[in-house]
Amino acid sequence: MEAADESEVLPRAFVWRRLHSLAGLWMVLFLMEHLLTNSQAALWLGDNGQGFVRMVNWIHNLPYLQAIELFLLGVPFALHMIWGVRYALSAKPNSIRAHGGTRPFLPEYGRNRAYTWQRITSWVLLVALVLHVVKFRFIEYPQDAWMGSSRFYFVQLHSDPGLYKLALKLDVQLYSAAQLQQELTTATEERLKVLNSFHLAPGELVAEASDFGTATLLTVRDTFKNPIYVALYTLFVLAAVFHAFNGLWTFLITWGVILSRRSHGKMVHFCTGLMFLMGFMGLAAVWGSYYI
Ligand code: HEM
Repeated sequence: MEAADESEVLPRAFVWRRLHSLAGLWMVLFLMEHLLTNSQAALWLGDNGQGFVRMVNWIHNLPYLQAIELFLLGVPFALHMIWGVRYALSAKPNSIRAHGGTRPFLPEYGRNRAYTWQRITSWVLLVALVLHVVKFRFIEYPQDAWMGSSRFYFVQLHSDPGLYKLALKLDVQLYSAAQLQQELTTATEERLKVLNSFHLAPGELVAEASDFGTATLLTVRDTFKNPIYVALYTLFVLAAVFHAFNGLWTFLITWGVILSRRSHGKMVHFCTGLMFLMGFMGLAAVWGSYYI
C-alpha cells in the first residue's frame, strides 16, 4: 500500500480542537437536561419537588449507570476540561489591557468581550465543577441499605422548622443523634454499617427515604438553606449558561453550520434566548428549592 500523502493527514492539533468542541456540545446538552431536572426541585415550578424526584429516580434506575457516568460523562468532561485549560492558558484576550499596551486593545467589539468572558468563565467552571461533583456525587451521595425486600436511602441534614412538616409529606423518617443511637440497637448488619457512618454535629439529623430521588431532593434543599451556597451556585449557574451558550454559538461557527453574516446574527439571538431560559431554570433550582 502506498504511504499516505502528508497533506491528507489531519494535523493532530486540529483533531484535538474538534474533539474539545464536540465534548463541549455534549456538555451543553447535558447541562440543559441537568438544569431542566433541577428546576423541578423549585417550589413554584416542580410540584413541590415531585417532578425532580421522578426525574432523578428515572436516571438512577438506568441500567449500567456507573458505566454511563464514567464513559458518557467523566471522559468527555475530562477531555474538554484538560484541553480547555491548555487553550485558556494560551488565550490572547484583546478586550482587557495587558502586557503594558503592547497587545491590541479593542473592548468596543462585543465578540472580543465574549471571547474574554468565555476564558474567564472556564476558570470559574473548572473549580466549581470539580467541587460540585465532589460535594453531590461523593460526599453527600445518599447511602443505601436493604431492609427485607425494600431499599432505603440515608442522608445527613441540618435541622430546620420546615423539615419535619416536609418529612411527613414525603414519608421520610428523621433521626436525631439520640434516636439514631436507639435505632442502632435493633438495626440489621447492613443498616448498622450505614447508620454508623454518620457523625452528627449538634442540630444535625439523618433522614431515611424510600427512594433515591427523595433523599437527593433533601440534600439539595439542605444546601440551599445556606446563603453562602446560594451565592456560590448563583455565580456557578451564570458562568455555566454564559460559557455553554456563547460556546454553542462558536461551536456552530467552528463546524461551519452557520456561515453567512445574517445567520451569525440570527443564531446570536437564538443562543442568547437559550442562555436566559436555562439561566432562569438553574436559578429557579437554587432560589426556589430554598422554600420547599
Ligand atoms: C458547564 C460546563 C461546560 C460547558 C457546557 C462547555 C461548553 C463549551 C462549548 C460548547 C464550547 C465551544 C466549542 C467551540 O467553539 O467549538 C466551549 C469552549 C471552551 N471551553 Fe468549555 N464548557 C464547559 C466547561 C469548561 C471548563 C471547565 C473549561 C476549562 C477550563 C472549559 C474551557 C473552554 C475553552 C478554553 C473554550 C474555548 C476553546 C476555543 O475556542 O479555543 N470549558 N466550551
